[in-house]
Amino acid sequence: MSYDVVVIGAGPGGYVCAIKAAQLGLKTALIEKRDTYGGTCVNVGCIPSKALLHATEMLLEAEHSFDALGIEISKPKVNLKKLMAHRVNTVEQNTKGLVFLMKKNKIDTFQGTGQVLAAGKVSVTGEDGKAQEIETKNIVIATGSDIAGIPGVDVAFDEKVIVSSTGALEFDKVPGHLVVVGGGVIGLELGSVWARLGSRVTVVEYLDTILGGMDGEVAKQFQRILAKQGMDFKLSAKVTGVKKTGKGASVTFEPVKGGDAETIEADAVLVATGRKPYTDGLGLENAGVELDERGRVKVDGHLKTNVPGIYAIGDVVVGPMLAHKAEEEGVAVAEMLAGQAGHVNYDVIPGVVYTSPEVASVGKTEEELKKAGVDYKAGKFPFTANGRARAMLQTEGFVKVLADKATDRVLGVHIVGFGAGEMIHEAAVLMEFGGSSEDLARTCHAHPTMSEAVKEAALATFSKPIHM
Ligand code: NAI
Repeated sequence: MSYDVVVIGAGPGGYVCAIKAAQLGLKTALIEKRDTYGGTCVNVGCIPSKALLHATEMLLEAEHSFDALGIEISKPKVNLKKLMAHRVNTVEQNTKGLVFLMKKNKIDTFQGTGQVLAAGKVSVTGEDGKAQEIETKNIVIATGSDIAGIPGVDVAFDEKVIVSSTGALEFDKVPGHLVVVGGGVIGLELGSVWARLGSRVTVVEYLDTILGGMDGEVAKQFQRILAKQGMDFKLSAKVTGVKKTGKGASVTFEPVKGGDAETIEADAVLVATGRKPYTDGLGLENAGVELDERGRVKVDGHLKTNVPGIYAIGDVVVGPMLAHKAEEEGVAVAEMLAGQAGHVNYDVIPGVVYTSPEVASVGKTEEELKKAGVDYKAGKFPFTANGRARAMLQTEGFVKVLADKATDRVLGVHIVGFGAGEMIHEAAVLMEFGGSSEDLARTCHAHPTMSEAVKEAALATFSKPIHM
């Protein structure tokens, strides 16, 4: 058997790369060791967590907003089994869809662990231990990432009491006290799910802010909103121990600036302290593929490794560990292999936290612009001044537009607010075309929409917003 391209890993990077390659006429194969396609994202990440986030957001609405909207109901009751069935069904629909797409695009699929033997040669080892060799002109490594754990701390994940993001999707009862180690995206999304279902949630974070790397003002306001929802935060706190106890688990942390260690008891602990590139068993050393200092597959600006004919994309290479970044890279590699000019614009990759309200951002933060010495102007508009937001009782948050002072080019847009994850894309499209804040402010936005706040924030960078 010989292929133009063999992709190892069927996550959003790998399966999208395979589809694009097949669409462009390349003879394509995809290797995956799971029973289902879609990788972490579809099976135990983005998709199932969104099913839980949506369901519990509806619960929040029913509990807190219906009465004010004049809808009287008795206290909503959660059927955790049914809620979990919604998560399972959602995942199933997506994985089935992927089987259909592989067939439709005539992609040959192999189940098993892929190994790179050399440029042009891979093997697949199935569950029965039998290996078969496949010849291919090109190899794309898309093996993703795995939970990083806490460096220097022995964490015995049992996925029942001490859990990673995977276990936190399927607690069979609502933990009384859930301690979340790491105030990043996973911690806050899954922490929100269980807080809404009734857990007391304490987030222990090493940095002095949650969502490190996000715009500082956004992170601060967002933390206030989550605190109002009942989440507790211990910031500047380094977790040094996570242990199982008779009743649950305990988490020990030390103040980063020095001082006495503290231990808190929990019914369950979610450790969400980042992910690491996954290259186990891939045999990259045999093929001579270089890794960087953080264990990521080293690639150049065209996603080529140091070995001709071997490419790598997604979480296993440098850059944000986001499904959509991996997808873009998958498309770019397929296009390059088909002789086209594949390209990823790393300056315009949106990031979304799917909490309530959502947080979304694209481009540079104020902190990054200050650090780079860029002269910029900022325009802000709060949702409290937006008519649609008032009608929906969704007035929390704001939009911030950052633009170059000299050229007016939009450099970053940051939103905390209901539907932020959808709204961010008008900013992304504008930035992809090198648009200015005046372009954004002069684009007619339908009234009444939450998106009008984006227009008003853009207007605020060079003039006065109308509704403030
Ligand atoms: P993260 O990197 O977003 O956050 C991890 C947090 O843990 C950091 O704030 C870090 O300072 C903290 N931390 C590390 N060691 C610690 C210690 N010893 N004590 C206390 N705090 C400590 O990683 P996370 O949330 O695990 O997510 C992993 C990856 O998955 C990220 O790259 C994220 O972008 C991606 N992801 C994206 C989602 C989205 O786009 N909505 C959803 C879920 C995950």
